[in-house]
Amino acid sequence: MCGIVGFIGNEQAAPILLEGLSRLEYRGYDSAGVAVFDGETGTLAVHKAKGRLQVLSDQLHGGADLNSTVGVGHTRWATHGAPSDVNSHPQVSRSGRIAVVHNGIIENYAELKAFLVAQGVPFTSETDTEVVAQLIEYFYEGDLLAAVSRVLHRIEGAYALGILCADCPEQIIAVRKDGPLILGYSQEGSFIASDVTAILRHTRQVSYMEDGEVAVLTRDGIRCYNRLMQPVEKEIVTVDWEINDAEKGGYEHFMFKEIMEQPDAIRRCISPRIREGEVVFEDFSLSENFIKAMRRIYIVACGSSYHVGMVGKYHLERLTRIPVEVALGSEFRYMDPIVDENTLVIVISQSGETLDTMAALREARRLGGHILSIVNVVGSSIARESDQVLYTWAGPEIAVATTKAYSTQLALLSLLSLWLARQLNTVPEKDYRAMLSAFQELPGKMEEVLSHRDSIQYFAAQYFNHNSIFFIGRNLDYALGLEGSLKLKEISYIHSEAYASGELKHGTISLIEDGTLVVALGTYGTLFAKAMSNVVEVKARGADVLALTTANHREEMSHTADAVMVIPDIHDLLLPSLGVVPLQLFAYYVALMRGCDIDKPRNLAKSVTVE
Ligand code: M6R
Repeated sequence: MCGIVGFIGNEQAAPILLEGLSRLEYRGYDSAGVAVFDGETGTLAVHKAKGRLQVLSDQLHGGADLNSTVGVGHTRWATHGAPSDVNSHPQVSRSGRIAVVHNGIIENYAELKAFLVAQGVPFTSETDTEVVAQLIEYFYEGDLLAAVSRVLHRIEGAYALGILCADCPEQIIAVRKDGPLILGYSQEGSFIASDVTAILRHTRQVSYMEDGEVAVLTRDGIRCYNRLMQPVEKEIVTVDWEINDAEKGGYEHFMFKEIMEQPDAIRRCISPRIREGEVVFEDFSLSENFIKAMRRIYIVACGSSYHVGMVGKYHLERLTRIPVEVALGSEFRYMDPIVDENTLVIVISQSGETLDTMAALREARRLGGHILSIVNVVGSSIARESDQVLYTWAGPEIAVATTKAYSTQLALLSLLSLWLARQLNTVPEKDYRAMLSAFQELPGKMEEVLSHRDSIQYFAAQYFNHNSIFFIGRNLDYALGLEGSLKLKEISYIHSEAYASGELKHGTISLIEDGTLVVALGTYGTLFAKAMSNVVEVKARGADVLALTTANHREEMSHTADAVMVIPDIHDLLLPSLGVVPLQLFAYYVALMRGCDIDKPRNLAKSVTVE
């Protein structure tokens, strides 16, 4: 969603802002803009353009045209008002002396706008953000911080703000409430950014703003205040991501690069957590009493992270015999969930900023649950608000379609299931050992699947023209199908559905006709015979069947399915971890053949920070 970058220092600001915004493009946006202070005229120079950031960058010759060392920039993902030059940010006050960039939604903007209009303030855009700029000017009496503080008492909603004022060009004000914003410290000057990738080229020294905090950035440093405007000391941490991790490194698409990075990401995530034949979580523990008293587990997440939870439910229930419920982040608050102090709530999120998931976390905490999150982005909001965090250590994931984050989340949740079972004594020693060695084999087997990617590309070439595709499977394969289907539809725009195979006959089978493509998942050996029956069933109704199975079952499947994708045999626990790789590749190649914008699919954002 919207991206914010701000800089004040000793270098020309506009090129830094534009380069930073280019690093935030992956979040999803439809227009871009910058505002810098022009020392010669004593005014703010604001430039905005609908469409790709490149349009704006070309207009400004990469920023060379704007001679200034202080400014804010923004990529907008439209909520209030269509994508257009006028609705792009920065939004300015009526005099043009205050500029605001904003990520989030001002929920009471209509009421505030009505108030300002009644005072004679003219509005030019349809955005909620313009209200903030106009309101700051309304309250401004020579002290910008005081005016911002008065505004913060009046606005409701979720926001990260960057504020620039022509009367105080030696500062930028930043505000955060329920929207990500980090502060960056360097010899060059001071930075704000929606995420660390935007400023990695300049600094790795960052601090994370807390909800309700206000920061004043100057050339020499950053001062921070809490919601009572009392000064606060921020902890400065060193980020260990490399700038190369956030670049394509010769690959055509981030998504493909990230698919190929999965074996290494899994090694980073899992290897340090298996030591001397035991699962060891140095970064996390649950007391023996809590584990014994635990009556229920909730897994809460959105999108692909939710699909990880769907697999996790099978693993956790099988291994621990504790009932597990998987809930969508966006539904959790409204379902009157049964959570108490004996409930473990596992929150899964790559970005750690998904607003729906965050709201679910807060509801679970309110009800007394113990919150353990599985997160990729270190220091993100969800990580900071959880009782405990397990980081996936997948490195920056830039493509909107998640791949390596999904895989590391899944591997980590599988490992957690095994660890819990060990604590509860519900897993026989022999099985425990077998599962542990399967984890060690996983990266190598993933590499094997990736090395056969040409065959997946071949199948994609056969089927990329289909307009509707069904993914079917049972149990683990059903959960896997959910992810395979989402991956395909989000980047190729092909309508696709995932069904539990047994449900077909309750309605969906009426949609199967000559030439319908069915991706039949039959990796789970225990239910392979059932998977075969479903393949026969859809074949009999004219479907083309592309199957996915393990080496063991390849031959049998080949007799019935039209084409077969194969993964090496591995312990059931890790079948979905291996099975997802061909499905990611299939989605990628299909989207490639259809000429889609793979890394930035239409209407989607990487980090969904609105409800
Ligand atoms: O950052 P999160 O894991 O909380 O994001 C959740 C979903 O928005 C995300 O998984 C989304 O479904 C991806 N685009 C799927 O590829």
